[in-house]
Amino acid sequence: MSNTPLIGIVMGSASDAPTMRKAAAILEEFGIPYEIKVCSAHRTPARAHAYGTTAKERGLKCIIAAAGMAAHLAGVMGSLTTLPILGVPMDGKFMGGLDALLATVQMPKGIPVATFTVGSHGAVNAALFAVAMLAVNDPEMSKKLDDYRAKQTAAIPEDLPAE
Ligand code: RP5
Repeated sequence: MSNTPLIGIVMGSASDAPTMRKAAAILEEFGIPYEIKVCSAHRTPARAHAYGTTAKERGLKCIIAAAGMAAHLAGVMGSLTTLPILGVPMDGKFMGGLDALLATVQMPKGIPVATFTVGSHGAVNAALFAVAMLAVNDPEMSKKLDDYRAKQTAAIPEDLPAE
């Protein structure tokens, strides 16, 4: 596999990085080249515009977009490219991230954003979903995903440890 990034991870603030590095860790585990950037829809609009409009020609296959509060980064990315957008709402101090969840999931028709769970679970699942999309046309990746699932299952004991 070449080193050209296939998945773009963008986030609204460097404060989102501890959560979004969990998505990056999944992509690393699967050996998928990715890039990870801070790219705010409202604080760095020109950067966001350049990112979204060049994403496809640069070889990305999808964009994982994370933002908190009035979370419009995923929707903005969706407005700039027809690549699949995987939105991850960040949890925050207000309503535990419900604000970002609604802002990300409530896209009006025409510009879809696939929205994942709030916070680190969403970050991991968005990355696994990106892997699954690549696996559709990549038998080797599909096998890796099967192995990941099998390992996950094997790591869960049926019996509780003794107290
Ligand atoms: C959003 O505002 C970011 O995605 C972040 O989740 C939130 C707060 O940003 P900071 O004030 O921590 O930079 O745009």
